[in-house]
Amino acid sequence: MKKLGIIGGSGLYDIEGFEFIEEVTVNTGYGDTSDKYRVYSYKDMQFYFMNRHGRKHSIPPHKVNYRANIAGFKELEVDTIISITATGGINSKYKPGDIIIPDDAIDTTSGREHTFFVSGSLHHIDFTEPFCPRLRGVIENAATSAEVDFERSGTYICTNGPRLETKGEIKAFSRLGADLVGMTAFPEAPLAREMELCYANISIITNYAAGTTNSKLTADEVVEEMGRAGENLKEIFSMIPVYFSTDRNCDCPNALNGTKINK
Ligand code: HPA
Repeated sequence: MKKLGIIGGSGLYDIEGFEFIEEVTVNTGYGDTSDKYRVYSYKDMQFYFMNRHGRKHSIPPHKVNYRANIAGFKELEVDTIISITATGGINSKYKPGDIIIPDDAIDTTSGREHTFFVSGSLHHIDFTEPFCPRLRGVIENAATSAEVDFERSGTYICTNGPRLETKGEIKAFSRLGADLVGMTAFPEAPLAREMELCYANISIITNYAAGTTNSKLTADEVVEEMGRAGENLKEIFSMIPVYFSTDRNCDCPNALNGTKINK
């Protein structure tokens, strides 16, 4: 059975249109997951959905139990995950509603449980490519078939939140090479790599980043823009079965090879 994990973010709490099968609770040893995993069926695939903020959006970005959520997918033998994130557009070519499939990332978060390797085996994973190139290709093909416009690259910078950024921070992030800013791809992405899962991201630009317009940012515009993007995301998801393969011909299944430093 082809299985795909989807982690929803702000404004995406469900996969509409797919056949709902069941809810599954997983005890991971890392504490509670953000919610139960909701399993949907579509064509020859099962989609395992989890909103990282919980069903009622009660968990802020810095309090998400990223380790439990990722370990739960592993437990369910879901080895491929697409994460959806709301983001502010830093690059002036972006406008709200744009869909970006980032190919690079910068992490500025702190104080989050960011690794599975806290004692015992110590691994330094390679993270040159933070998002699985194979899975990014699957998403690109699905979006192209669905005739949904998207950008196939971009650098995602992750902040700690929950506050939004200052105009100075956004100016600095832009100079560092960041194109879009969000609060949740870290430590989600590296935790998935530590578990040898494939992980890629679809970011929705929900607003212009701080200081790039004169208007004040609101949570309402983020949720409203994600709501509008829902239809495009559904179109992309519905084409995924055409391009998804269980043959993981990327480096992710062997991400831990040669990374163990202690004896
Ligand atoms: N900054 C950080 N996170 C975000 C933003 C933003 O402007 N918009 C949506 N998530």
